[in-house]
Amino acid sequence: MNVLLIGSGGREHALAYKIKQSKKLNNLYILPGNPGTKTLGENITYINPNDFNAVESFCKDKNIELVIIGPEQPLVNGLADFLRQNNFKVFGPNKAAAEIEGHKTFSKRLMAKYNIPTADFAEFSSNEIERAKNYLSSCKFPCVIKADGLAAGKGVIICNSITDSLNALDEIFVKKIFGQAGEKIIIEEFLIGEEASIFAITDGTNFICLPSAQDHKRIGDNDTGKNTGGMGAYSPAPIVTKEISNEVEKKIIIPTLNAMELEGRKFVGCLYCGLMLTSEGPKVVEFNCRFGDPETQAVLSIIEGDFLELLYSASEGKLNKNAVKYSGGAAVCVVAASKGYPDSFEKGYEISGMENQSENIIIFQAGTREIENKIVTNGGRVLGVTSISKKNDLETAKRGAYYALNKIYFKDIYFRRDIADKALKRN
Ligand code: AMP
Ligand code: GLY
Repeated sequence: MNVLLIGSGGREHALAYKIKQSKKLNNLYILPGNPGTKTLGENITYINPNDFNAVESFCKDKNIELVIIGPEQPLVNGLADFLRQNNFKVFGPNKAAAEIEGHKTFSKRLMAKYNIPTADFAEFSSNEIERAKNYLSSCKFPCVIKADGLAAGKGVIICNSITDSLNALDEIFVKKIFGQAGEKIIIEEFLIGEEASIFAITDGTNFICLPSAQDHKRIGDNDTGKNTGGMGAYSPAPIVTKEISNEVEKKIIIPTLNAMELEGRKFVGCLYCGLMLTSEGPKVVEFNCRFGDPETQAVLSIIEGDFLELLYSASEGKLNKNAVKYSGGAAVCVVAASKGYPDSFEKGYEISGMENQSENIIIFQAGTREIENKIVTNGGRVLGVTSISKKNDLETAKRGAYYALNKIYFKDIYFRRDIADKALKRN
């Protein structure tokens, strides 16, 4: 099978790594890819992924049999629709289904209509500032204010007081810090509990869940400081017991897939369920229309079988639930970032120490670039150093990841020291 993978992050390096293991694979192309994916397939840097016609002609030229779309933006822009209209098989939802991530107002209304557990909420447009202020005056704090549109993981403000919340309102509606993404907002109840991520791979009707994971969204140890795209993840997350995962399937995944179909927005791809495990049971914090980053790096490191077959069968509408399996093992992925992230940071520093790592280590590249045969930093999240314990021993996996990180160096390297500690403390 000739496969085109769209994207360039750590998630796409992990997807490429897993696809490369498939016996069904002929050629793998990554658009645009990164220096990590270049070792697994051919990076295509001469096409603009936003130019749908160019992507389609490339697919024709190379006899592409499956297109896998990694990031949310091309999905929300309708790349999957365009390619399907031109008879290509695609893993990833159409534009109407990608709205589950693209517009939080859509996903919250969907959950309310179909009784899918989530935080209580209200929605406001930028011309309803007074109504929003009134609502806040009788709100319980903390509360959470979210931009409706895509904001690269930064569109969420947790407000501890009425003053915080009025400031947030001003920032979003008057100063327009989120631009068009903040034309509408959600004000929602603050949920208390531990977070977990579950990926449901679906053909729109049938689904399988991959092993659970837990992300670490804040920049600082012990979940302090600003929100980021994710500073590390581990899988499986012991907090997601068999009982909880059954409940998530029954109360969240099945009703959501049914609801999407009923609404004429059949969802084909990876439904990312960002959950809060509350005392009242699991509730949805957010849905994403794609694999999570960096959870994918940990989750894919511990599944066996033919991942490409899984994605292809979903794209055909005939999910092969037995294509992959999890039979034990644990993985910890620690993100090595550039100091300053998620705000401004410098780029272009040479990275050393990635070679000669132990066989349990996979270094997924994210914000990197190759210049004159050297790999240099090129983004906020630079590497996802991932360590695997075949025996499902998170502690060993964590130790392995930090041991590997000790050998890696670039100027301004920063990483959290406590990835997986929450699970280890529970044990
Ligand atoms: P989101 O982009 O919606 O996943 O939000 C980013 C992060 O903000 C989440 O991972 C949570 O840590 C936090 N968050 C979002 N919504 C809530 C909520 N209703 N209650 C508590 N924390 C939240
Ligand atoms: N790790 C969070 C996300 O992918 O949205």
